[in-house]
Amino acid sequence: MSLTDSPDTDAQMTTKEPEAARLTIGESEYELPVRKGTLGPDVLDITRLYRNSGRFTYDPGYTSTASCSSKVTFIDGKAGKLLYRGYPIDQLAENGNYLETCYLLLYGELPDRKHFEEFEHRVTHHTMVHEQMNRFFTGFRRDAHPMSIMVGVVGALSAFYHDSTDIHDPVQRDVASVRMIAKMPTIAAMAHKYAIGQPFIYPRNDLDYAANFLHMCFAVPCAPYNVDPVLARAVDRIFILHADHEQNASTSTVRLAGSSGANPFACIAAGIACLWGPSHGGANEAALNMLEEIGTVDRIPEYIKRAKDKSDPFRLMGFGHRVYKNYDPRAKVMRETCHEVLDTLGVKEEPLLKVAMELERIALEDEYFIEKKLYPNIDFYSGITLRALGFPSELFTVLFAVARTVGWIAQWKEMIEDPEQRIGRPRQLYIGPKERDYLPMDQRTTEGWPAAASPPK
Ligand code: ACO
Repeated sequence: MSLTDSPDTDAQMTTKEPEAARLTIGESEYELPVRKGTLGPDVLDITRLYRNSGRFTYDPGYTSTASCSSKVTFIDGKAGKLLYRGYPIDQLAENGNYLETCYLLLYGELPDRKHFEEFEHRVTHHTMVHEQMNRFFTGFRRDAHPMSIMVGVVGALSAFYHDSTDIHDPVQRDVASVRMIAKMPTIAAMAHKYAIGQPFIYPRNDLDYAANFLHMCFAVPCAPYNVDPVLARAVDRIFILHADHEQNASTSTVRLAGSSGANPFACIAAGIACLWGPSHGGANEAALNMLEEIGTVDRIPEYIKRAKDKSDPFRLMGFGHRVYKNYDPRAKVMRETCHEVLDTLGVKEEPLLKVAMELERIALEDEYFIEKKLYPNIDFYSGITLRALGFPSELFTVLFAVARTVGWIAQWKEMIEDPEQRIGRPRQLYIGPKERDYLPMDQRTTEGWPAAASPPK
């Protein structure tokens, strides 16, 4: 079996674009159209491969598969670039705000003042949740993980907002989108307040998105709470950095759930469930735990040695990334934000920051990390920052979910509006038993059973 691009007969014509790749299986040859994006590698279109050849492709983890075409976000892992609708993440984080970024991701362009103010007004005036939802929270145990509450409550939004679940109506799609962006911080803050036994704090329409979130998380009814604008700006920036990341696991989950026509609230709940996994949204907590475990700068060489030792499962948390083989562009902004937050809070000597900076310096000069292209990722500095802001570590992934909601919705909306959209239905390479006949129970033996056939006792 071989696969080649269409032969370019004229060696001089190096700029000629390949139009099709040819796949040879035995005596047969199949043409696979080559589709070109605006940025990034070309893709081989295999949509007709099964029909024409009777073969599927095999790609666990989808490391070589483009599951959709998208105009939302682009990552160049080699160059360490992340673009939302073409705009570099550092420019958005430096100059923009989160709601402006939400508008960009949802509708494709940065808003002018009029459109921004209308959007901000709509989001601000949807931040309250149905009053009956307050009682819904009390059904959870006090020690429930806030992400489990998020999965349940966000899924339950579909039981409260019936007028925005018709996915075929663009107005209802839009209302559902705005509702989720608006209500997610309220639900997240309620999950936090419920866990610590404090009363829920209602949103305030005079505060911007991030300041309102801090207010709902940290205010109490018996005392005034003033939001520090530098800290609110830091939260806003953290939200921008996490707003989208193209076809990652949780986004792909939202798309797959949505491909069956499920309502948008249920799809976002599915995304939250996926994000909760430690390989996805939980890494910032792990990075913070590691920095705490290292504790002091003098112990760094010991941990670097362990990270390089193949017989030791230890890895430097917050280092390396499946896509970025360069400095994660979000990590640069996160590092600056971390310094700003600590300066504002008057934390002169945060021992964990000292450990983090020294660890980064040593690792970036170390041959092992250079050769494997292991750079700090966004999670390296976000745990320290979020802890300094006063968030308990179980809330870190919840904040990630709040920020990522707009990305999930933008991708879900794009999918619903895509004329090529079909229900997601991956195929498989079956390696189980061949067809066999049913035997009555008393004629069966356990001889030759695989271990999995006896459940653990
Ligand atoms: N510390 C030490 N060695 C590492 C690290 C690390 N953090 N990350 C990768 N390596 C080594 C691996 O041992 C492997 O070595 P080998 O080629 O000798 O076998 C090589 O680098 C490549 O690593 P892979 O795991 O194959 O790379 P992959 O791209 O699949 O994994 C991952 C990326 C999972 C993020 C990995 O770098 C890692 O485990 N990092 C620590 C966890 C972490 O910070 N995760 C957050 C990611 S960001 C996010 O999800 C928002």
